[in-house]
Amino acid sequence: MYRSHTCGELRISDVTKEVTLAGWVQTVRKFGAITFVDLRDRYGITQLLFGEELNAQLDAQPLGREFVIQATGKVSERSNKNANIATGEIELAVQSFKILNKSAIPPFTIQDDTDGGDDLRMKYRFLDLRRNAVKKNLELRYAVNRSARNYLHENHFMDIETPFLIKSTPEGARDFVVPSRMNPGQFYALPQSPQTFKQLLMVSGYDRYYQIVKCFRDEDLRADRQPEFTQIDCEMAFVEQEDILNMFESLIKRIFKDVKNIDYTEQVTRMTWEDAMWQYGNDKPDIRFGMQIANLKSAFLKGGKIQATGELINGAGFGVFDNAETVLAIAAPGCSEYTRKQTDELTEWVKRPQIGMQGLVYIKCNADGTYKSSVDKFYTEDKLKAIADAAGARAGDLVLILAGREERTRKATSELRLEMGKRLGFRKEDEFKLLWVMDFPLFEYAEEENRWVARHHPFTSPKPDQIEVMINNNPLIENADKYLEHPYSNIKANAYDMVLNGNEIGGGSIRIYQRELQEKMFAALGMSEEEALHKFGFLLGAFEYGAPPHGGIAFGFDRLCSILGGSESIRDFIAFPKNNSGRDVMLDAPSSIDDKQFDELQIKLNLKG
Ligand code: AMO
Repeated sequence: MYRSHTCGELRISDVTKEVTLAGWVQTVRKFGAITFVDLRDRYGITQLLFGEELNAQLDAQPLGREFVIQATGKVSERSNKNANIATGEIELAVQSFKILNKSAIPPFTIQDDTDGGDDLRMKYRFLDLRRNAVKKNLELRYAVNRSARNYLHENHFMDIETPFLIKSTPEGARDFVVPSRMNPGQFYALPQSPQTFKQLLMVSGYDRYYQIVKCFRDEDLRADRQPEFTQIDCEMAFVEQEDILNMFESLIKRIFKDVKNIDYTEQVTRMTWEDAMWQYGNDKPDIRFGMQIANLKSAFLKGGKIQATGELINGAGFGVFDNAETVLAIAAPGCSEYTRKQTDELTEWVKRPQIGMQGLVYIKCNADGTYKSSVDKFYTEDKLKAIADAAGARAGDLVLILAGREERTRKATSELRLEMGKRLGFRKEDEFKLLWVMDFPLFEYAEEENRWVARHHPFTSPKPDQIEVMINNNPLIENADKYLEHPYSNIKANAYDMVLNGNEIGGGSIRIYQRELQEKMFAALGMSEEEALHKFGFLLGAFEYGAPPHGGIAFGFDRLCSILGGSESIRDFIAFPKNNSGRDVMLDAPSSIDDKQFDELQIKLNLKG
């Protein structure tokens, strides 16, 4: 027997018991004739006391950091108690010990506030995983996993595995491909998601499917993106959008309860995609705070009409506003007393390449009812007041205004809103606000390819009353600059995203389930009949054999965990993540392969460039 108890288990009630512990040496402290060792395992830390009688053995076999040892002795009450750890009232008076394995000196300290940098920790991830901070994240991940499985099981969902070696049909991100030895010159792709398989399972009658499953996407990485990530992937048959929204907001509420003990009883807020874009400048608004965007002037089409004409700001001779496609404003509460230095700093902030604006205009709404701005030369105080009112500002607020090209300005204003929200303490880590963003556009115009692409994916169904618009209009775009005027721009999908604190944690849709409509969708995306058959013939075929109405959703499991754990980076919640260049620095992957492997695959490397 290696151990009778774990290092997190012993309490004052165990005093006088004879026990054996095994674990890793965290610290060794010598005080005169006696030595204290903190012994760590997954469950906690217990202090070991080595008395004088063990000195000779300790001298012969000195203990070092991260040595694996086994110690037997008697649990005794500590004279110097430590309230910070669960075992802090006791210690183990060691009678005998054994070194089970030695350790090299670890390259960083295995403690909460480690001295190891990111790269080093990733290279020695197996040591990093010993740290409490990382362990807590993995424990949270497992708790989310358990909670999701329990809920889905109770609701009759069945976990069904789907293959990883599939056919390459890139749409959205790039595929990772795998060469086939048995079929020289041919490649599998790793699934970007099990989308078509879960739809086939609906055709097969497994009307409630789920899988906590790896997905693979060769896309540019960010803090919330990994090349391989995990989804809680779900699909249901005989459902309408409303059924799905209810089923899966209850799933997330259940996870909140099980994992964070949060009673999220209110109905999840719903917002159309248009309102999200209009009021928050992006499709995943953080609604923990207000500060909605006011459109002073816009080229953005809503229902085919330009909503803000610029009446308020045009014609004052201020070229920046007069000539801009779009002028947007937010009101930062309580910031009217910002100093010149602070407004200058904000101006520099919006000029950073990541934000890309030329400058920032502000209006101070002073507490005494006067207005002061960086454009006093052009606007009377009455005009400034009217603009500030339009931005929803009150006395004491600071109105921040950005002007420029539509898309960039909207993005920049959205970023500025988030930044101000953060600086003003409105984005609290322990506050959770869920949101359904709904009625996404069915199509998106891809400039480089001059064609329509599916905003969600090509299996998403248009709103029923807009199917005709899709079928009866030629997808060809004659004038790329005016794609917004094409009827396809206004077709909405039965698609929805779940947003948590400004992060897209899930997305799904009601699917097309008739072959004819699916074919029309492929055609609308510029796919020839042959191409559609080559890529998705299996799905089109299946739709001819009794496909039920169906729909589903997939949650980004890593993202959900990181937000619940209060971190921006999903890497912290993945046992063995990749770095920003998609590398596993511990394995040193990707790497070249042997000539023999190339030979077997009948592939000759001929790298371009
Ligand atoms: P979608 O592409 O929206 O939908 O993905 C679902 C959710 O997965 C998460 N996610 C990611 N997480 C980490 N790294 C990535 N690279 C990454 N990409 C996506 C996001 C996202 O909301 N088959 C459809 C779902 C459906 O229609 O049912 C799909 O994959 O949180």
